[in-house]
Amino acid sequence: MVDARAAKDGGTVVVGRDAELSTLAGLLTEARDGNPRIVLLHGPAGVGKTALLDAFLTGRTGDDLTVRRAVARPAGPPYGLVSALLGDDGGDESDHSDHSDRGDRSDRSESDDGGSATYRRLLALSRRAAGLAADRPLILAIDDAQHCDAASRRWLEFLGRRLVHDRILVVLAARPAIERAAWPDLAELLLAAPHRRIDLGVLAEADVADLIRLTLGREPVPAFGAACSRLCGGNPLLVTHLLAAMEQQGVGPDAAGCEWAATAGPEIVAAPVAEFLTAESPEVRAAATGIAVLGVGDRQLIRALTGASDRLIEDVLNTLRDLTLYDPAEGTVHEVVRRAVLGGLGARERDELRAGAARLLNDAGRPAADVADQIVAMSATPEAWMLGVLWDAARRAERRGDSVGAACYLERVLRETPADITGRLALARALSTADPSTAMEHLARRSTPGPPTPVPV
Ligand SMILES: Nc1ncnc2c1ncn2[C@@H]1O[C@H](COP(=O)(O)OP(=O)(O)OP(=O)(O)O)[C@@H](O)[C@H]1O
Ligand SMILES: [Mg+2]
Repeated sequence: MVDARAAKDGGTVVVGRDAELSTLAGLLTEARDGNPRIVLLHGPAGVGKTALLDAFLTGRTGDDLTVRRAVARPAGPPYGLVSALLGDDGGDESDHSDHSDRGDRSDRSESDDGGSATYRRLLALSRRAAGLAADRPLILAIDDAQHCDAASRRWLEFLGRRLVHDRILVVLAARPAIERAAWPDLAELLLAAPHRRIDLGVLAEADVADLIRLTLGREPVPAFGAACSRLCGGNPLLVTHLLAAMEQQGVGPDAAGCEWAATAGPEIVAAPVAEFLTAESPEVRAAATGIAVLGVGDRQLIRALTGASDRLIEDVLNTLRDLTLYDPAEGTVHEVVRRAVLGGLGARERDELRAGAARLLNDAGRPAADVADQIVAMSATPEAWMLGVLWDAARRAERRGDSVGAACYLERVLRETPADITGRLALARALSTADPSTAMEHLARRSTPGPPTPVPV
C-alpha cells in the first residue's frame, strides 16, 4: 500500500523507490564517515530521477549537512554547472586551505600543463568543495548531468581522482544520453572514485496503482491499474500525464476508465514520448524521426535514412516497445507516435525526409505501395519518377481490389496533372467502387477541366 512504499518528506512523494532511497541513505552514511562516494542515478526520461533526488534531499539540509544542488543545462557556459554548484566567481585561486594537496602530483602529470590557469582553477574549485566538506558532510547533487558543460565535467573528473577521505557524496542524475556523445569520460570518472550506479527502472504495476490512488484519491479497479501500467510502460511521467488528463476529463479509475484508456490513452501518452525522444539529443531525435517517417522498425532502412547507430535505433525502438507504441511482432510503430514526432517538424523538413524515404524504399525494391505512401504524404511537388510510382501503386491497388488505395494514389497524381484524362477516368473508376458521389465529381471535372486543385499543406 501507499504508506509502505511512499517516501514522504516535505511534500515530496515517490512510490516504489524504497530500495533506491535506502541505497542513497547508505552511501550518505559512508560519506559522513569520511568515505567519499559518487553515485549515478541513471534512467530514461520521466522515470523519476529528479523525483528521487527530491525525495532523498528534502529535509536533509540542516546543521549537520551541506547540500549543494544544480541542474546542468544544454549548451551551458564553461564551468556553468560547477559555478552554480559551488558559487564559483570565475577562478578564485586564493583559497589556499590545505585540505587536499595530496592529489596534486597525479593530477599535474595528467593535466595538459601542470602550471596552467586551467589546472589552478580546477584545483581552487576542488579546494572549495573540500573546504565545504571540512565543516559538515557535503552532498553535491547534479541533475540532468547529461548536459554538463565540458569544463565542469573535467572538474568532476578532477575531483573524482582527488577524493580520498573527504566527507562528500556526489550524486549525478542523468539520462542514458550521458553514456553517448554527451560524456564519453563518464566511465573514467566513475572508475576514479568509489561509486555506485543506480539504474532506475519503471514502476511495478502495484506502484502504479499506488500512484493512481495517491493522485486521484480513489482506489483503482485492478483492470484499470493494469491498463494504465501497460499503456504507460510503468513510466511515472506518462502515468502522471495520463492521470492529469483523466482528472481534467472527469474520468475515474474504473471500468469506464479502462475503455477511455484504450481509446484516448495512446494519443495522450504519445505527445510526451515524442517530446522526450526529440529533445533528448540530436542523435536520438534523428533516430526517432526516421522511425516515425518509415513507421516500421526496419533497422537497415532507419540507419540508411538517418545515419543513426544500431544501438541508438535499438534504444528508441525498445523505449517505444515498452510503451506498447511499437509492435515488434508486426514491426510497426503506432500511428500516434508518428503523428506526434512528425507534427513537431517544419513542412520542409518533413518533405525532405519523406522524399528521402521514398527514394530509399524504391532503391531497396520495396513494394510500390510503401514508396507511394511516402509520396502521398509529401506536400511538395513530387519528382517525375514519383508520379510513375504513384501510377504503378494505383494499378496494383486496383488489381487487388483496394479501390480506396488506388483512388488515394491517383488523387495525388491528378493534383500534379489535373488535365490528365486517363488519370481522371481511372480515379473515377476507383471511386465508383469506393465512393460513388466523389466519382461523379471527378467525371464532371473531366468535361470542364478547371485550375489545379490547391495542394493541402
Ligand atoms: N516514484 C515516483 N512516484 C511518484 N511520482 C513520480 C515518481 N517518479 C517520478 N514521478 C513523477 O513523474 C514525473 C517525472 O519524473 P521526473 O521528472 O523525476 O523524471 P526524470 O527521470 O527526472 O526525467 P528527465 O529525464 O526528463 O529529467 C514527475 O511529475 C514526478 O513527480
Ligand atoms: Mg529530471
